[in-house]
Amino acid sequence: MNNSTSAPLLRVENLVKHFSIQKSFFRRDTAVVHAVDGLNFELAAGETMALVGESGCGKSTVGRLVLRLLEASSGKVWFDGEDLMSLSPAQMRGRRRELQMIFQDPYSSLNPRMTVEQTLTEPLALHGLARGRHRERAAELLDLVGLAPQYLQRYPHEFSGGQRQRIGIARALAVEPRLIVCDEPVSALDVSIQAQVVNLLQDLQRRLGLSYIFIAHDLAVVKHIASHVAVMYLGQMVEYADKKSLFAQPRHPYTQALLSAIPLPEPGLQRHRILLQGDVPNPINPPSGCRFRTRCPHARARCAEEVPALTLEDGHSVACHFWKEIAVPAALLPDANLLPPNLRLHKLQAAFQPGGVAAANVKIYPKTITEQQQKRASE
Ligand SMILES: Nc1ncnc2c1ncn2[C@@H]1O[C@H](COP(=O)(O)OP(=O)(O)OP(=O)(O)O)[C@@H](O)[C@H]1O
Ligand code: SF4
Ligand SMILES: [Mg+2]
Repeated sequence: MNNSTSAPLLRVENLVKHFSIQKSFFRRDTAVVHAVDGLNFELAAGETMALVGESGCGKSTVGRLVLRLLEASSGKVWFDGEDLMSLSPAQMRGRRRELQMIFQDPYSSLNPRMTVEQTLTEPLALHGLARGRHRERAAELLDLVGLAPQYLQRYPHEFSGGQRQRIGIARALAVEPRLIVCDEPVSALDVSIQAQVVNLLQDLQRRLGLSYIFIAHDLAVVKHIASHVAVMYLGQMVEYADKKSLFAQPRHPYTQALLSAIPLPEPGLQRHRILLQGDVPNPINPPSGCRFRTRCPHARARCAEEVPALTLEDGHSVACHFWKEIAVPAALLPDANLLPPNLRLHKLQAAFQPGGVAAANVKIYPKTITEQQQKRASE
């Protein structure tokens, strides 16, 4: 699914994870949670694949399966040409340093009783790295994530959320990984700090050639950091494309609804939001055929009978029987997001016209598009 000509760093084939759970506290019989159901994707070295979708759709489970922190029910994960599922625990420990994870809540993922130096040198000792120079390496790692070496003797509670996330990133980097699964790494942070951490991750990617699986709810962040985007719904991938193609021409009705929820950057302007009916179905008993059919505004009889295959066309994959007939909603087309070059001035002027503030709140879309705006739309 990746257009890159070189062999992918990571290849995931038909990955499945079913959790067996007790139906209730009082009953012994079990039910099966279809957390991940037949995922396929590839990731090239130095690229970022974002994994998006509603809560409970299986994003974190995919991340943990790829790192073998969780055993898959079936499927394969190839890392640098090696089948990770076939490795013994000892062999996997050897590989583990190349595959790291950054968590949403840096506080709970750091040991409160360990100083930063202990936190950063523990993985070095475990993997026999930087022998005889652990303290220098810990200081180098702090420097890499933009923190001063005098922080080495501090404890996690003495840092802000953004600083703690930087320490979490430094710890992941300590073992010189090639792939990092970032599970909602900025969701718990203030917006300005989010931008700093996202920029740091991008900078480290450029400098160290890292690959990321970036799990996120916030599509505005995804648009910034991802090279490819995979959209998940109820344990399955419904769309996969490079970022530009996915944001400009979303093919799946679910992706279209997700994108319609991204706020526009200009205060006062709003997109026409596509509101989905109903809740996400229970993964214990997913709908027949297309799993999205109970909420899809375009569903027809065939959708209940036949599972739509993920079909690749022009480098863009989608799992929908009728995607060719479903137009991209006008509010999602790039032109609809463009602002006139003088919008602020126009609003200010309008506020002083008869009609005052009401006139200033009018939504305006451009008749002419500047080069800079065209560039913005294609980003
Ligand atoms: N250990 C487990 N036992 C049983 N069910 C589980 C387990 N872990 C996850 N699940 C279920 O698998 C599904 C996918 O969970 P997962 O945590 O991967 O979702 P997610 O997309 O990461 O959600 P969120 O955005 O809320 O983090 C959910 O229905 C969840 O309840
Ligand atoms: S296959 Fe049917 S239900 Fe599923 S997304 Fe397409 S139109 Fe909607
Ligand atoms: Mg999760």
